[in-house]
Amino acid sequence: MRRSTRGDGPSELQRVDRNLGMELVRVTEAAALSAAPFMGRGDGKAGDQAAVNAMRAVLDTVRMDGRVVIGEGEKDDAPMLYNGERVGSGEAPALDLAVDPVEGTRLLALGRPNAIAVIAAAPRGTMWEPGASFYMDKLVVGEEARDAIDIAATPTENLKRVAEAMQRPVERLTVFVLDKPRHEELVAEIRRAGARVALHSDGDVMGALQAAYPGTGVDLLMGIGGTPEGVIAAAAVKALGGGMQGIRAPQREGERTRLAEEMDQAEMDRVLSLDDLVRGDDAFFAATAITGSPFLEGVRYDRGLGVTTESLVIRALSGSIRHIRGTHRLNPTHIFGSGKPREVVDAVMD
Ligand code: FBP
Repeated sequence: MRRSTRGDGPSELQRVDRNLGMELVRVTEAAALSAAPFMGRGDGKAGDQAAVNAMRAVLDTVRMDGRVVIGEGEKDDAPMLYNGERVGSGEAPALDLAVDPVEGTRLLALGRPNAIAVIAAAPRGTMWEPGASFYMDKLVVGEEARDAIDIAATPTENLKRVAEAMQRPVERLTVFVLDKPRHEELVAEIRRAGARVALHSDGDVMGALQAAYPGTGVDLLMGIGGTPEGVIAAAAVKALGGGMQGIRAPQREGERTRLAEEMDQAEMDRVLSLDDLVRGDDAFFAATAITGSPFLEGVRYDRGLGVTTESLVIRALSGSIRHIRGTHRLNPTHIFGSGKPREVVDAVMD
């Protein structure tokens, strides 16, 4: 899970003069290419490190003055991509960045679907900084139902409203929920209401993407996941025109204590809107699949073709959505990971 930091404070909002997502996708491709050789090897940490190294190296080739708002943690714990770190060439535009070189470290380690390399960007001062909040209750839907949700209401009530907005029975809704003991009652309630539950051990950024993106077979995301992942997902949901709400939902004693020191109960219980999470209309989101899913094909190795990746690039301002398939020659300079990555890549070639 990623952690955020308090940053420089807001500066005047600058319009970004181009689709930065088209450049940021190189960053997620590099991270995915470097992490993928570690798929199914039981060592998520090594895969994560490889992805961090790659992401960091390519970020500096992007023309921007980037500030990591959500990164690998505080500077003391994270030598690279730490919260507050400045990345990019240093030229305008000034941006906030939320990065997750491997979203779904366990998925990568176990060779399960839905692990992605992901980055979100928005003009400086527009991205919410979670502070001491690690966990957040989230509710995500697609465009049709974006005005129908109210996270303060019960899951049953929300399912009814979403079903009405989407003009279909509750029985035909599918809800992405993280498969965690904390969600036992939520899952039971969703099933009692008549909807289907798609349980996944990890990866609720992918869950949010699927809920916001039409035709994926997932209609909603419900339940508690990481707060930083919530901000990353918000950039994508905003860009896709979907709906999202969140409420801080501390799960550990230390988290509760720190939040109680920082804010009163009213703020703790406040419903965070999509605009609270990512302000304005100029968010960028890029993700490259590491392990495959029906939504995005994972990194594939082919001796003839090289390595192929599939990525999604979305810009909120224009509403453009691009699926980008990349073919990469097996040049060692593309593989920035640790632990003799070139040999690892050779070992996984078909
Ligand atoms: P990481 O890959 O950073 O470990 O995050 C995976 C993830 O499943 C997120 O998608 C989710 O938001 C969070 O962890 C949930 O945390 P936890 O597993 O502690 O409930």
